[in-house]
Amino acid sequence: MSRKLVVANWKMNLTLEDSKDLIQKVANSVSFHAYVVIAAPAAYLHPLKDFIVGKKNIHLAAQNVHHEEFGAFTGELSAPMLASLGIEYCIIGHSERRIHFKEKNEILAQKVSQLFKHGICPIYCVGETLEQREKGKTYDVVKKQIKEGLFHLKDEEIEQIIIAYEPVWAIGTGKNATPEQAEEVHAFIRKYITQKYGEEVADEIPLLYGGSITAQNAKSLFEKPSIDGGLVGGASLNAEDFIQIIKANFPDK
Ligand code: PGA
Repeated sequence: MSRKLVVANWKMNLTLEDSKDLIQKVANSVSFHAYVVIAAPAAYLHPLKDFIVGKKNIHLAAQNVHHEEFGAFTGELSAPMLASLGIEYCIIGHSERRIHFKEKNEILAQKVSQLFKHGICPIYCVGETLEQREKGKTYDVVKKQIKEGLFHLKDEEIEQIIIAYEPVWAIGTGKNATPEQAEEVHAFIRKYITQKYGEEVADEIPLLYGGSITAQNAKSLFEKPSIDGGLVGGASLNAEDFIQIIKANFPDK
């Protein structure tokens, strides 16, 4: 199977009507062969699941899940709940959750396990802060996030995961990593997973880049051999920009 995909992370934006309008435009404009995942606000997942029926290039993700299966956790959403809606993907460990909600690798590892238990594919985010990069710690940070968040998984689980490398300094800042910087870390991640799980498993895993992807810079990023696609925040809220980004990874035939 191809490793290519493009994921939109809408975060806490858009109304339900805006969401449907955007999805409709994307579904109409990109190739039938494109693979697009929309991480929508939790409240929209159910109506959007109905709305995407027949739109074969569009899939849905949640932006977060609780690490327990059920119980007294007011306001939270569990993996079995997402599964009961037929949601296929879920973002885990986005830097905004690591920073604002203090989510640690140990909890993220539990979330990842919950998702696999209920047949949902995690999109696991890693990435260093500017300070960590400037101190030369990028690889150490990424290694720790992967080891503690994912290395408890079995071969048949990890080969189904999606990993997004999102340097914190590039998210929402307009300052993307250069294709060379991103490629370097992506190649490192694949090598690190190869060391633990072997090449056959590591080769299955899509590695996405995220952080200030735009219609202008997407192509140069996606052309790199270790960059399989993107996790797109701001630019995924505008239909024209997002369509251009998808087309950069899935050119019209
Ligand atoms: P951005 O966000 O594209 O707005 O930088 C990316 C993300 O947070 O996933």
